[in-house]
Amino acid sequence: MESRLRMRHWIAAGFWIALISGGPLPARAQAPLLGAWAFEPTQTFPQFTKMVVQRHKGQLSGVITSQWYGDLPMLNLRIDHDQLIFQINNGNPRLTPRDLTARIQGGHLVLTGRLWDQDLDATAHPATPSELAALRFPTYALPPPRPVPDNGLARTPPMGWNSWNKFGQEIDDKTVREIADALVKTGLRDAGYRYVNIDDGWQGARDANGVLQPNSKFPDMRALAAYVHARGLKLGLYSSPGPKSCAGYPGSYGHVEQDARTWAAWGVDYLKYDLCSGEAFYHTPETVQAVYQQMGEALQATGRPILYSLCEYGRFDVGGWGRKVGGNLWRTTGDITDDYAAMSKIGFDQNGAPHNVGPGGWNDPDMLEVGNGGMSLDEYRTHMSLWALMAAPLLLGDDVRSIQPDILALLSNRDVIAIDQDRLGRQGLPLRRLGDLEIWARPLADGALALGVFNRSAGPMTVSLDWAELGLKRPQTLRDVWRAADLDPAQDRITWEIPAHGVALLRLGGVMGAANPVTVQ
Ligand code: GLA
Repeated sequence: MESRLRMRHWIAAGFWIALISGGPLPARAQAPLLGAWAFEPTQTFPQFTKMVVQRHKGQLSGVITSQWYGDLPMLNLRIDHDQLIFQINNGNPRLTPRDLTARIQGGHLVLTGRLWDQDLDATAHPATPSELAALRFPTYALPPPRPVPDNGLARTPPMGWNSWNKFGQEIDDKTVREIADALVKTGLRDAGYRYVNIDDGWQGARDANGVLQPNSKFPDMRALAAYVHARGLKLGLYSSPGPKSCAGYPGSYGHVEQDARTWAAWGVDYLKYDLCSGEAFYHTPETVQAVYQQMGEALQATGRPILYSLCEYGRFDVGGWGRKVGGNLWRTTGDITDDYAAMSKIGFDQNGAPHNVGPGGWNDPDMLEVGNGGMSLDEYRTHMSLWALMAAPLLLGDDVRSIQPDILALLSNRDVIAIDQDRLGRQGLPLRRLGDLEIWARPLADGALALGVFNRSAGPMTVSLDWAELGLKRPQTLRDVWRAADLDPAQDRITWEIPAHGVALLRLGGVMGAANPVTVQ
C-alpha cells in the first residue's frame, strides 16, 4: 500500500514538475519531494496552502504559499536524503531564519519546523491542477507615489483610549460602551481623551460581496459608533494592509477601498493600520510607502474625516514620509509592555526624529501603559512626562471603568496635558545626559520651556539645578507640574530629591522668546 501510494506521488509530482518547468522528469530518488502539493486546510499559523518545488537545469527552486504571507520563495532549498530543507523570510528583520523540513510520511508530505514561537505541523497531498489554480494567491498593483493632501486633523497629538494594552483580543461591544461611559464619568473625556479605539480583534468574515463584517462580539458597528458619538467621543478601528492582522483576523489586503468605505459608513473616525502579515508583501521602502498611501487615499476618498495612524514599527524612516501618505501619526518602535525597562527604553532611547513632528503629524512611541499595574506611580509619572515632552499621542491603555484615584489624577493632570498638547508642536529633546540623570526640554508656544528632570537609577537622587549652568535664563514663573505647585522663580538654584525611576516636571515661564538662550535642536 505504502509503495503504491509513493508511486502515485511520484507520478503526480513528476507530472507537475514537467508541467511547471517544462523540463525533464526529476531523478527518481528525489522525485517524491518535488512537484506541487496542496496542504490540508488548517487554522494553524501561517496557514500554508500550497508548495511547488521543481528542479530545472539542475537547479532546485520552490515557492511556498500561506494565507498569512502569500507566495514566499523557499530559501537555501536543498534535499538531504529523504528530506527537503529550506527557510523562509517573511520580511520581518527580527525573524531568525530557521530550517523547515518536508518529508514523505505515510503517503503524505509532512512539513515541520518552527516559525517565531510556533511549531509547524502541516500535511500536504499532491495537488491537482484545479486545486492548484484555486489556491493561487492574488497580488494587487500599488499606486504610484503622489502626495496625499493634509486631512486637517491632529493639529495636536491625538488623545483617547485604545483596547489593546489592557484587553488584547478580549474586547467586545459592551466593554467599549462601558469605557466610553467611564471616559465621560471620570472627566477624562473633558481632559481631552476623545478617541475610543478598538484595536485588533473586532474583525469577522467578509460577506459574499467582500464586505468586511465585525465578529459576533460586535453585533452592530454603526450602533456602537452612534453610542460613542452621542457621548461626545469618536470611534477608532484597526486593520492591516496584509491578508491577516497581527492576531490573525482578516486584513484589508485586496479590499483597501472597500474597507475604507465600510468604516466611513459605520461612522469610524480613526484608523490604526498595522503592517503585520503585510510585511511579507511590502518589505521595501517603496512598497511600504505605497501601501500606506493607498489606504491614505482610500480614507480621504470616503469624504469622512478619518484620522490615520500608521503602525509599521518605525521601519524605512517612516517619519520622513508619514505625512506624504496622509498619516497623522506613525509608530516609531515595536510594542510597549507594562514595565519600566521597556517603557524607558522607548521613551529615553528610541524617539523618532524630531524634525518630522508638528501640527498634523506625530511620532508615536506606542500607547500608554499607565494604570495597568506593572510600574510604580513614579515610573508611570516618568512615562507620562516623557510622552508629554515628546509631543506623543496620549492613548490610554488601561481599564478606565475601574481606574484608581491616583492613576486618574496622574492621567488628568491639566499641566502635563497642556505640555503634550502645546500648539507649537515641537518635540522635546535631551538638554543634558549625565549618567542616570537626564534633563529633557521642550519649547512651548507661550515662550515657556517644559523641563523634565529624570532619575533613571534604581535609588533616589538629589538633584540641584542651576539655571545659568544649564544655559537658561532665570524663569519668570516656575511651576512644579506633578506637585501642582508654583515655586519662587527668583532662586538661582533649585534642589529636589527625585525618587527611583522618577521625575520632576517643570514649566519655566518666559525663558524662550526673542533673547532665546536655549538651544533645543
Ligand atoms: C501589533 C501592534 C500592537 C497591536 C497588536 C494587535 O503588535 O504593534 O500595537 O495593535 O499588533 O495584534
